[in-house]
Amino acid sequence: MKSSPIVPAPLQRDAHGVPVSTEYDDVYHPRIGPLAQARHVFLGGNGLPKRWRGRERFVVLETGFGLGNNFLATWQAWRDDAQRCGQLVFVSIERHPLRQVDLRSAHQDSPLAELAGRLVDAWPPLTHNLHQLVFEHGRVRLLLAFGDVQDWLPELRASVDAFYLDGFAPARNPAMWDRRVCHALGRLAAPGATLATWSAASALRADLTSAGFEVHLASGIGGKRDITLASFAPRFDPHPVAPPRPTEPVQRRALIVGAGLAGCATAWALAEQGWESRVLERRERIAAEASGNPAGLFHGIVNADDGLHARFNRAASVAAHAAVASAIGNHGAAGSSAGLLRLEHDAGHDAMRATLTRLGLPPDYVQALDASAAAALCGIAVPSPAWFYPMGGWVDPRALARSFIERAGGAVTVSHGVDVHAVRRAGDRWEVLGAGGRVIDSAPVLVLANAAAAAALLPTLQLPLDTTRGQLSWMAASDALGATTRLPIAGAGYLLPPSDGRIVFGATSSSNDPDPGLRAQDHRFNLAQLARLTGEPAQIGVSQLEGRVAWRCVAPDRLPIVGAAPALDPQVRASAARLDQVRNAAREPGLFVFTALGSRGITWAALCAEVLAAAIGSAPLPLEASLLDAIDPARFAVRAWRGAGRARAV
Ligand SMILES: Cc1cc2nc3c(=O)[nH]c(=O)nc-3n(C[C@H](O)[C@H](O)[C@H](O)COP(=O)(O)OP(=O)(O)OC[C@H]3O[C@@H](n4cnc5c(N)ncnc54)[C@H](O)[C@@H]3O)c2cc1C
Ligand SMILES: C[S@@+](CC[C@H](N)C(=O)[O-])C[C@H]1O[C@@H](n2cnc3c(N)ncnc32)[C@H](O)[C@@H]1O
Repeated sequence: MKSSPIVPAPLQRDAHGVPVSTEYDDVYHPRIGPLAQARHVFLGGNGLPKRWRGRERFVVLETGFGLGNNFLATWQAWRDDAQRCGQLVFVSIERHPLRQVDLRSAHQDSPLAELAGRLVDAWPPLTHNLHQLVFEHGRVRLLLAFGDVQDWLPELRASVDAFYLDGFAPARNPAMWDRRVCHALGRLAAPGATLATWSAASALRADLTSAGFEVHLASGIGGKRDITLASFAPRFDPHPVAPPRPTEPVQRRALIVGAGLAGCATAWALAEQGWESRVLERRERIAAEASGNPAGLFHGIVNADDGLHARFNRAASVAAHAAVASAIGNHGAAGSSAGLLRLEHDAGHDAMRATLTRLGLPPDYVQALDASAAAALCGIAVPSPAWFYPMGGWVDPRALARSFIERAGGAVTVSHGVDVHAVRRAGDRWEVLGAGGRVIDSAPVLVLANAAAAAALLPTLQLPLDTTRGQLSWMAASDALGATTRLPIAGAGYLLPPSDGRIVFGATSSSNDPDPGLRAQDHRFNLAQLARLTGEPAQIGVSQLEGRVAWRCVAPDRLPIVGAAPALDPQVRASAARLDQVRNAAREPGLFVFTALGSRGITWAALCAEVLAAAIGSAPLPLEASLLDAIDPARFAVRAWRGAGRARAV
């Protein structure tokens, strides 16, 4: 999916105080009030709250989030219901979201003030992404897709139990209700799904019928004589884009190999989905390898065409901001989520601003600063203009990993000093084996989160993993002279603010380099990078520096590898009906991979873990399909298959 700039809606009201859109010449809700409409049409029309009772999870999809009143009414109904489902996932698409300040003002007199306040506080930056807002300890999740409904529906991976259709009136906004939209809803519908809307337009009813819904009219409210209700009853298999819902294992328990950022974040995200896990780590403590540096940074990126990497990093950096803020605020991690500067050496300030205007990226996500504005923020006379990422920052990755484990609470056990020598399928479970083939444990789900060692543990996965050695340097804060920054600065290399009496900067990158020792030449390289960031030669000798060496695990396309593993048996793999797209690849039941975090594990860990946990628990995925494909562990097999096809054709 190509992203398009998000144009926020202004908050305007009509003579009766009802919010209106001048662009669509329509009101956001009838005069009887949004909650009365929500309860009669959307909740009542979908048989809620009754239909969610006894369910582990219930998924609602809404077209047109607007002011969020339907979401708030649904959340409140879930709260009020003693027999509520275990988890409520509310997916909503909105092309013109309100700015946070306007949303706050829209809800200032809301009867659901507490919930509205929590929604406003969690309101994400207005970027073309699928934003996940988590409430009630993960039991209420809002997946907010900012952008056009026609672009987003094919990108969603969810099995929907109830649809709320709430665009502006079909006559004024036909593209939101047309046949393509109705057919996309049909592809997302779970068995028994229902639909409700206040519109009784005959064209809509015809399109819903052709998409496999059984449609009828019911009595309306607030001046509407009729409303439309429907239930999904296709006469033919609609050939769902999303794979059929796998039957969940009886035991919701996973084994995770590796306790770096990937493994620890997985334990947290699984716990939020109601799963237990056991993390097996060969070292005597968590975060002892790549994740064991004293500090590292996280941030998004901007590129001119807003390609896959930029979109993925943007989504991940928003999730990282929340995870790091929690690690700092609730778990005592050293760090800051108050912004980061990334120096720009190629484009000038005007070109940077033009890029942001063209991409429509909002200032709470990224700003283009000239060198003097950047210098004013960080306190160092940086030599070039900079991208300022207000949601970026730095953190001690060891503490971030620890915070993930603490947030998982009683749902996780961490076993240190356990070296997993082999893994194997035994019936419908996965076994992990130690030295001499001793079975250590077994569970229905196994996650390989052990960086480059995942390839050695299961060579048949054929993961094309590489390792690059990286050396960090640090100096005593008292030796720093001109290198004391208030914000982390990145560019070629990076410099972090003082913490724990030292200033960390770096880092080197060399492939196929197993040398574990600190090298003077690498310290010199880091000092040279530092000089380029600060615009001055560093006033310190190599002998005054300390540092650390570790290895990043990277995939050839510089994206992480996250998701269900492809089938291990080459014959099963080749038997997939079509292997031209990763979503068609045959999978190994119960086996998942989370590796290749490269030099961005802090930025990527939280989002990737949430994606993985949703995939394991068959929940709606908090990332769009085109980005899921880009990080899918099966992508290499598919590329090889396509390459072989081309070779055959020549
Ligand atoms: C010098 C340097 C600087 C960096 N700077 C940054 C930065 O500023 N920002 C950023 O986002 N990222 C940075 N990174 C990258 C980041 O550190 C990594 O992406 C991240 O730590 C990877 O996490 P992981 O959990 O995948 O791997 P790891 O942390 O390596 O965890 C894998 C774990 O698996 C365990 N394991 C392996 N095999 C087995 C087995 N068979 N049985 C049991 N346990 C096993 C290992 O002991 C290890 O603990 C940097 C990396 C380096 C090297
Ligand atoms: C009636 S309002 C929704 C009210 C909302 N459900 C609530 O509870 O407050 C309709 C919404 O649809 C949005 N919208 C209009 N066209 C759209 C499109 N093509 N794609 C996505 N959203 C769209 C509008 O911006 C508006 O916020």
